[in-house]
Amino acid sequence: MNQRTSNGRPRPRAASPRRQRFATALWGLRLAWAECRLLVAGSGAVMVVRGVLPAVLALVLKELVDAVVEALAAPEAAATVPVWLVAIFVLALVEGITWFQQRYLDLRLEDELEAHLSVAVVHHASTLSLTFLEDPGRRDLIDRARSNPGQRLAGLIRQLRITVTMGIQAASLLAVLVVIEPWVAVVIPVVSIPFLGFQWRLAQRRYDEQHARVTKARWSRYYSDLATGPYEAPETRILDLGPLLLRRYRSLLEGFRDRDKSLHRGDLVGSSVATLVLVVGLYGLFARLAFDVLQGSATVGDLAIFTGAAGRLRASVDQAIRSLSQALEESLFVANVEEFLGTRTTEVRGQRRLPPSTGGSSLRLLDVSFSYPGRDRPVLSGISFEVRPGETTALVGENGAGKTTLAKLIAGLYRPDEGSILLDGVELRDVDPDDLRDRVSFIFQSFGRYEGTAAENIGFGDWRRLLDRPDEIEAIARRAGIDPLVRALPEGLSTLLGRRFGQVTLSGGQWQQLALARGLARNGSLIILDEPTANLDPRAEYEIFLRFKALVADRTALIVSHRFSTIAMADNIIVLADGRVAESGSHAELLAREGTYAALYRLHREQMPNEGQLRDPGERPDRR
Ligand SMILES: Nc1ncnc2c1ncn2[C@@H]1O[C@H](COP(=O)(O)OP(=O)(O)OP(=O)(O)O)[C@@H](O)[C@H]1O
Ligand SMILES: [Mg+2]
Repeated sequence: MNQRTSNGRPRPRAASPRRQRFATALWGLRLAWAECRLLVAGSGAVMVVRGVLPAVLALVLKELVDAVVEALAAPEAAATVPVWLVAIFVLALVEGITWFQQRYLDLRLEDELEAHLSVAVVHHASTLSLTFLEDPGRRDLIDRARSNPGQRLAGLIRQLRITVTMGIQAASLLAVLVVIEPWVAVVIPVVSIPFLGFQWRLAQRRYDEQHARVTKARWSRYYSDLATGPYEAPETRILDLGPLLLRRYRSLLEGFRDRDKSLHRGDLVGSSVATLVLVVGLYGLFARLAFDVLQGSATVGDLAIFTGAAGRLRASVDQAIRSLSQALEESLFVANVEEFLGTRTTEVRGQRRLPPSTGGSSLRLLDVSFSYPGRDRPVLSGISFEVRPGETTALVGENGAGKTTLAKLIAGLYRPDEGSILLDGVELRDVDPDDLRDRVSFIFQSFGRYEGTAAENIGFGDWRRLLDRPDEIEAIARRAGIDPLVRALPEGLSTLLGRRFGQVTLSGGQWQQLALARGLARNGSLIILDEPTANLDPRAEYEIFLRFKALVADRTALIVSHRFSTIAMADNIIVLADGRVAESGSHAELLAREGTYAALYRLHREQMPNEGQLRDPGERPDRR
């Protein structure tokens, strides 16, 4: 079996020690008990009743048959026959009704656990660090934990319950049968133990198959989304990727089908052999008993009980073994949920509050280095610079230079491997995350396009404060200069946006305008704008350009941009190259320095000779 994940990391052996499986089952049972005590207790009670019922029924049946046989010889003995008939009627009724009760309890337990565990998994994911969630090597763990965790746990409990019910049935039937035919005590274990081993291995193989399949299953979902998703469909159509995607999708699904087929076939052959041996053994004994009845050393009642009980015993043993192996399979899945919920990221939550800051935060980076997990080369190394309160600093550099990464470090989304970041004089890793969140506004380069109303798309910027204050949201939209966009929407701020659920789909630039307004919604003292105008038309960009100083008034701003008009506005410019600060200074200083920045600026001027000098923010462009 495959012992490595697709990225070559060793994974924990699926065949965990038996003790660990037992521990997982206990963990699951404890969790179910804590969440739905009544349902678990009810299920346990019904389990015991249904466990002993067949043996009781067999005993009553024997009494009935013996009473009938006796009554044939001596009619006065017939008086007991109706008693046994009523007893059989009651037992049959109990058996029928408890079956439905059991089904009801199973379904209810599954629903309760699914609601509880699915939420617990998503909640736990929200507490994990971003680097953990972004690590492709962990995606499989997250995916496995996310796939119907409650159903898996309910499945484990159900299979354990069936195992115990069938175990009680088999043991009590065996006790009844051994009295009549002692050899049963030999035949049953001789057949059952190898069959149990076989089913156990099969369950392990089924789990290993599912385990190894997670990454491929994720690929298959990706291909299917690419072919059918509303955002992806236009490009896949133009590129005619359909046939290629379909080929890859089909090949994955056919691979799954073929491996499942071999597992199912193994199950069919193994189970048939086990059943054959068991039937031969039991019915051999049945023939012996029939002979004994003819000899007079056993009663007709014995024969009747053997007929009913032996068949039932065979089914119980078979079912007990099957459900035990299924419980094993489910416990392996539940172990994934347990492992995920037990994952702790090493980050310790900071406790310090930031001092009050008016007119913007101060920011200081000292020798900051950072690598993404699993990457050899650091993205950033030895970064130091300082931003004074209220200043605007531009981060400049080629694609992949590390600008977005640095912005995320400053926002506290990642922690530096070395060095420190001080916000208002406090080491960032010591700051209470809630406090930090209130201080920092971030307009992302890959901004969100939230399925929701336009008001929500803005209000999410500070939803605790804004979601029930539409007038404030309107004011923010006006301040961000997007009221023309809002007015053009059929229902203004209440228009539902997005392709999945929305009435209206916006253009890329319109979404970015909303993202800008969202970033401005929070009154943070540090605002980070990562390529905030990349999708905007010249007019919209110019509007922002004019308003920029007012928009970031009383805040410290960090702006990432490739646009020289924007960059030149900054009080200070930091040029990143190869993960280091190559140069820093004002626009004029950097031009005078004749370094990387000056070279980039000259390149830009050559490409756009008519753009002329950088425009004065007070001047409106000619083309308007
Ligand atoms: N989540 C991530 N996991 C691993 N590596 C990443 C991740 N994000 C970025 N990188 C890598 O870090 C490097 C810097 O990326 P970053 O996004 O910071 O560049 P950038 O300067 O913002 O580029 P651009 O101008 O294209 O926006 C790139 O080489 C990229 O491959
Ligand atoms: Mg970037």
